[in-house]
Amino acid sequence: MLDPYNRHITYLRISVTDRCNLRCRYCMPEEGVDLMAHEDILRFEEIEQLVKLSVDNGVTKIRLTGGEPLVRKGIVELVEMIARIPGVEDLSMTTNGILLDKYASDLKKAGLKRVNISLDTMDAEKYNYITRGGDINKVFKGIDVAQKVGLEPVKINCVVRNSSDEPDALAVKEFCEANNLSIRYIHQMNLEDGTFSKVDGGDGGNCASCNRLRLTADGSFKPCLFNELGYNIKEFGQEKAFQMAIKNKPLAGTRNKSGRFNQIGG
Ligand code: 5AD
Ligand code: SF4
Repeated sequence: MLDPYNRHITYLRISVTDRCNLRCRYCMPEEGVDLMAHEDILRFEEIEQLVKLSVDNGVTKIRLTGGEPLVRKGIVELVEMIARIPGVEDLSMTTNGILLDKYASDLKKAGLKRVNISLDTMDAEKYNYITRGGDINKVFKGIDVAQKVGLEPVKINCVVRNSSDEPDALAVKEFCEANNLSIRYIHQMNLEDGTFSKVDGGDGGNCASCNRLRLTADGSFKPCLFNELGYNIKEFGQEKAFQMAIKNKPLAGTRNKSGRFNQIGG
């Protein structure tokens, strides 16, 4: 479906949970965040219907995000439900990798095509600091298993503070080159300030060619990460919420005072 600026909306990012097993400093405050109420979280059947509706309206690419998608109970089953919908050409997931060694094989069998894994440093202590408690060795294990089971291409999302030349980013780059991984640098952003930027090597942040729509775990279609607009299916109904999000997609992002990455999925 075309939005008012003639952008063809073909990519839906679905946040399947706002929960996470890490507490990255740039994403969540230490005390955690107010979480969505369980009864507000979309059920698998609702997500399935919404994907069908989206595909009927021109979406071909689906990405599952979070929070951390692998902490959603039954995630493999959900992947299976989405993968078998005709018209879903590309099904991917963005994960922190912590649980990936456990799930990669089943995810592949369920029809997941590929994964993006977050890794901002190669230093175990620093990783533990940034994520407030994460074990980097679990991520390495997850990357390895993902490659072995063929969730390809495995891409690494590396959040940088200033530039992709900073030491942590360079170390991650070296690791990627040595291990047949492609790397995406994401500038650390503040949604409230409106400090967002293009993803180097990716498609994100380029408003003129933005083909994305987002669905939050509690059922709001959001036309833009850097905008507060959202249309909940419980308020508008599925079809109307979807249409309104596309109809109201802004020409360019500005800021999002209410948005948090764990809710919208980055
Ligand atoms: N700035 C940029 N990216 C962020 N993410 C979370 N918080 C931020 C932020 N403040 C993104 C990162 C991470 C993914 C799960 O969410 O890309 O890898
Ligand atoms: Fe979790 Fe990702 Fe946020 Fe880190 S950035 S706390 S891994 S959702």
